[in-house]
Amino acid sequence: MKIAIVGVGSFAQCFIPLYKAHPLVSKVVLADLDPEKLEENRQKHGIQETYGSLEDVLASDVDAVALITQNWMHGPQAVQALKAGKAVYSAVPAGITVQEVEDIVRTVEATGQIYMIGETSYYYPGAIYCRRRFAEGGFGQVVYSEGEYYHDWDHGLYEVMKARAGDRWREEGGMPPMHYPTHSTGGILSILGTYATHVSCQGFVDHDEDGIYAPGANAYDNPFSNQSGLFKMADGSMMRVNEFRRIGSPGAERMSMFGTEGCYHNTHAGQVWTDKNTVTRLEDILSCADRSFGDLENPFADMSQVHEIERLPKEFAGLPNGHQGSHQFLVDDFVKAVIEKKHPPNSVWQAARYLVPGLVAHQSAMRGGELLPVPDFGSGS
Ligand SMILES: NC(=O)c1ccc[n+]([C@@H]2O[C@H](COP(=O)([O-])OP(=O)(O)OC[C@H]3O[C@@H](n4cnc5c(N)ncnc54)[C@H](O)[C@@H]3O)[C@@H](O)[C@H]2O)c1
Repeated sequence: MKIAIVGVGSFAQCFIPLYKAHPLVSKVVLADLDPEKLEENRQKHGIQETYGSLEDVLASDVDAVALITQNWMHGPQAVQALKAGKAVYSAVPAGITVQEVEDIVRTVEATGQIYMIGETSYYYPGAIYCRRRFAEGGFGQVVYSEGEYYHDWDHGLYEVMKARAGDRWREEGGMPPMHYPTHSTGGILSILGTYATHVSCQGFVDHDEDGIYAPGANAYDNPFSNQSGLFKMADGSMMRVNEFRRIGSPGAERMSMFGTEGCYHNTHAGQVWTDKNTVTRLEDILSCADRSFGDLENPFADMSQVHEIERLPKEFAGLPNGHQGSHQFLVDDFVKAVIEKKHPPNSVWQAARYLVPGLVAHQSAMRGGELLPVPDFGSGS
């Protein structure tokens, strides 16, 4: 397959070498609106073919595009690319409104194209471990799950938003934390195979002197830097999500899950599995390091014992990885989905189930925590 990387900013650097190395990819081309960045990336990655806009690359012979553009652009760009006959890999979030997400789902359904959301939490070791435990019935009936993404502004967010949005960094940076819930929800929903039906959410009104959440400062009229939502799930369980951007924490991206027979707990103190009588520490199997198998010369970077590295192309050994081992699996999933014309695990329907609950949670927070129904666009099967 031939693929275009659209947006060659900071995050794309993690993915260009992997798409280039995948043995089922015959050509990688690059696209960006910024000619200087495009030239820099052309030289850095040794790629000859470049395009100055999404429109131009959609008119080319590529089979697929990887949208690694700014987060508020993904929805309309995905629909445009799908309608142009291209498979789409999109960095999170899929969109910024429920309507944008529904448009992507309906376009996939109408065109039969492949869409995949690049949700990293699907391949975090804890999520992989819990999918196995869940399939074996180890949790009994799941009662409650919690996901949290703590990313304080002081931990690089000012720089990221200034690079992404320039003078408009406050307008975009003040987006509701619940508009970016997928690192919290993705793992949980991938394990349970269910979806949220209702939410009640509260927000912390931010008065920091940086003024990001002051009245009129951001494009979303959002006063909250931290939000906590409690969701009712279709399987009868509860899910709590914390999205915090002003928080005295070194940062966290994790989930825990509690069932009638067994529980998985992930905290700063470590990861454990408990049943009614025992506590089992999981660091040995869930911590990430360089790992090898067979007679490979180079190890796979950033992998835990529960990552199935044997299923990856050997060409990925020795290449960069990231976000707890997930990048290499996401690239491999997308390439195989396009080649085999089969929807990937992080399909368009899952993308909607990861994101829409957060978009509605923010609406609830703006209404003082009113319980709101969460629309579901199905599972695609
Ligand atoms: N864990 C994760 O899943 C994770 C981590 C980091 C970033 N991200 C996501 O990755 C995305 C990119 O982040 P970034 O920090 O690399 O942003 P960035 O601003 O560094 O790069 C975006 C690039 O897209 C280009 N672009 C915008 N519109 C375009 C168009 N129409 N045609 C061609 N190019 C276009 C811009 O010129 C820019 O170079 C964001 O959406 C972010 O949410 C996800």
